[in-house]
Amino acid sequence: MSLVRYSRSGAVATITIDNPPVNALSPGVPEGISEGLQKAIADPEVVAVVLIGGGRTFIAGADIQEFRKIHQGQAGSLKPLLRLLTDLEESPKPVVAAIHGTALGGGLEVAMACHYRVAVASAQLGQPEVKLGLIPGGEGTQRLPRLVGVAKALEMCVFGEPIGAKEALQAGILDEIVEGELLDAAVAYAQRVAHLPPPKTSARTDKLGDPEANAAAIATVREAAQKRMRGQTAPLAAIEAIEAATKLPFREGCQREQELFAACLASDQSKALVHVFFAERTVGKIPGLGRDVQPLALHRAAVVGAGTMGSGIAMVYANAGIPVLLKDSTESALTRGMNSIRTNYANSVKKGRFSQQDADKRLALITPTLSYDGFEQADVIVEAVFENMALKKQVFAEIDAVAKPDAVLASNTSTLNIDEIASATQRPESVIGHHFFSPAHVMRLLEIVRGRATSDRIIVTSLELAKRLRKVGVVVGNCRGFVGNRMFAPYCREAIFLVEEGNPPEQVDQALYEFGMAMGPLAVQDLAGLDVGWRIRKEFKHTEIPGIRYPELDSLLCEQGFFGQKTGAGFYRYDENRKPSPHPRVMELAREYAAKAGIPQTPATPQEILERCLYALINEGAALLAEGIALRSVDIDIIYIHGYGFPAWRGGPMKYADLLGLDRVYQKVCEFYGRFGYHWRPAPLLEQLAKEGSSFSAYDQSKAKGQ
Ligand code: COA
Repeated sequence: MSLVRYSRSGAVATITIDNPPVNALSPGVPEGISEGLQKAIADPEVVAVVLIGGGRTFIAGADIQEFRKIHQGQAGSLKPLLRLLTDLEESPKPVVAAIHGTALGGGLEVAMACHYRVAVASAQLGQPEVKLGLIPGGEGTQRLPRLVGVAKALEMCVFGEPIGAKEALQAGILDEIVEGELLDAAVAYAQRVAHLPPPKTSARTDKLGDPEANAAAIATVREAAQKRMRGQTAPLAAIEAIEAATKLPFREGCQREQELFAACLASDQSKALVHVFFAERTVGKIPGLGRDVQPLALHRAAVVGAGTMGSGIAMVYANAGIPVLLKDSTESALTRGMNSIRTNYANSVKKGRFSQQDADKRLALITPTLSYDGFEQADVIVEAVFENMALKKQVFAEIDAVAKPDAVLASNTSTLNIDEIASATQRPESVIGHHFFSPAHVMRLLEIVRGRATSDRIIVTSLELAKRLRKVGVVVGNCRGFVGNRMFAPYCREAIFLVEEGNPPEQVDQALYEFGMAMGPLAVQDLAGLDVGWRIRKEFKHTEIPGIRYPELDSLLCEQGFFGQKTGAGFYRYDENRKPSPHPRVMELAREYAAKAGIPQTPATPQEILERCLYALINEGAALLAEGIALRSVDIDIIYIHGYGFPAWRGGPMKYADLLGLDRVYQKVCEFYGRFGYHWRPAPLLEQLAKEGSSFSAYDQSKAKGQ
């Protein structure tokens, strides 16, 4: 089937793009549009042209697969798109872009090269290239400011958020919002403008502002970008390209855009972000799970345990419009939970995230209860009680007794064995882990842990549920800590070891923060509560091998009552606003312990800190992959980006390793193994891939082919 269709009704020609699912500008599409245009220009009967997308959308942008190919060293070119843009704008007959669905990236750029743009009210328009580590490369940084002014263009290109049709009309991108059938309305519009000289966006300068106002707008957005998009280069390149639009004639501005675009396309940040785009879509596809497995309908939910996690999870359901029962065993616990929910909603209203009316609606969906009454109607029940196996088993036995036959029985455990929990029920096939991350209503990750007996239907239902809850669901296998927390342990271990070796917490955290992590590992532990790890450590003490070094400082802090933020002290001291500062007692304790245990004091450079913490993470990730606990390296990357604050523009830990080169990582792991022993034994898969000159991405692909 051809990618572009040409037709004519009366004096108006219609060019329809037919490249499902999203009409990306894949090879052949720009060429097809150009061909259609030439046909229309050559036809003396045609007075105007409409460009429209077939199916659910206008053009959702360049074909991101093409970027991936370029990243892998294959040839690719923007030339056909650039030629099309010139052809469109130079057309002697007016071209009207008729927009529904999304006009994103190259899609908006094509629309802006047309002479007019009309859209349905639900259309979305934007330049989201920064989300792929790129800037608009189809003259968007030059045409957009000419249509909407410099400040708005900066906002759209630097932050990448799309805008709705109404805003686009007000801003000057759209000429009209149409009602009824889009094509008919666009044809009627084209007939109306057919005899006017076609206006060229590139020829406009009226909105390009004056140097003083532009300098101020640029300075403001640069500051915001450095904060909100810390570490990323593409937003800064987008600013430079738009600045060029204000200073250079159109063609020269386009040239500058091309140079900046090429630099972005060659960057590791773009490789990482394109990887993440596809990874986010891959995680929902589970090998071996038939497409014919239908998810169960989910109308009502129930949560057991009104602590921090339980009440957060209840909010997640309410936020998605799902009524939820919230049960606890004591009135005081329930009141505490409901109060924290109310405070949370009140804060959201205060911050303008949603209206009071919205907050009231959400709150009304949460019903506190001390009994299991009503649980028989719940389609999904989430257990979120204290992290203790005996307690969880007891709760599951109780849930089993009341739940309806096809309910999803989920545990929010972050470390415990799902199979053992499931054994407390008569229906282990219905039991699954739904590991939310704290704060549950904020963090986007949902680790979906499948047990030995979990049915495909329950897995598919959980993935669907994740989407409804606006979470990214990643399916993982069952082991202590699953994927996220099992990897987090060696990462934190190294951070604590580094402090024990004389490196202050703020130096360790700073290195990782500057790398791009949302928070350093020690600050994260203070936030989560050091007592959590302390308790787990005591429970698993019997598994520790004599003579092997384990992190000790966190336990020593706990013995002093330093549990982290909640007690005002942990690895840091916290003031009443929870602002951290160094705590002198921490390094004292570290030194005393090191002297007693014979740990040499070795100051580490930021680079060494990064290598110690991140390579420990990667080595464990490789082990999880080989064990099949993580299905693919992309699953690990998405878990770390959405659950642990790993910067997306680094691609996630496994993609980051690929970009460094596995050989380099492996060599360093071997060196650490020589220096520190036991914990650093190289994962056999890392060794194998490094020696083959391969990558985790290639491993994913070879596994997918083998399936
Ligand atoms: N190029 C190539 N493939 C694309 C694509 C693009 N620009 N946009 C979407 N796709 C693919 C997705 O990979 C997915 O493929 P899959 O079904 O094989 O996994 C499919 O189209 C559907 O996309 P999905 O994101 O699942 O659909 P959605 O309806 O939730 O969202 C969009 C649609 C267009 C909003 C969203 O896909 C999007 O934001 N795309 C990127 C747009 C962009 O960045 N354009 C600028 C490129 S420079």
